[in-house]
Amino acid sequence: MKILCLNGPNLNRLGKREPEIYGYETLEHIEAQLQHVAKQFDSTVSMKQSNTEGQLIDWIYEAEDQGIDAIIFNPGAYTHTSIALRDCIAGIETPVVEVHISNVHKREAFRHHSYLAPVCVGQITGLGTFGYEAALRMFLQSN
Ligand code: DQA
Repeated sequence: MKILCLNGPNLNRLGKREPEIYGYETLEHIEAQLQHVAKQFDSTVSMKQSNTEGQLIDWIYEAEDQGIDAIIFNPGAYTHTSIALRDCIAGIETPVVEVHISNVHKREAFRHHSYLAPVCVGQITGLGTFGYEAALRMFLQSN
């Protein structure tokens, strides 16, 4: 399988940013872990991050057009604001799992609502960075 792991705004600062909430692991650590797991299934993962909503939308369409099999997506704060990303995901066939490192339901009320979860396969929240691996294993094992 070919999997895209997409990360939204501020996740480029993972490891430095509010470590009491998000921990000390960086996107590079997560990528290495995902590559390690994917290899065991003869699969590949590509990792992308952008702080820009339109760039994320363009990459999702590009993934669909290039025949990527599944998308693991941490949309960051766009989860709670972006109708544009919701419309994008609603309009593609590539399955998307929404991942959050922190448990958004334990945090501020504005994080409790996701515009994206209803158009995703599911939402993983609060499992720390393992949430990415959980999403990956779900896709790889259901293939
Ligand atoms: C996050 C949760 C969001 O509410 C927040 O805006 C983030 C990170 C998480 O991974 O826990 O940027 O998506």
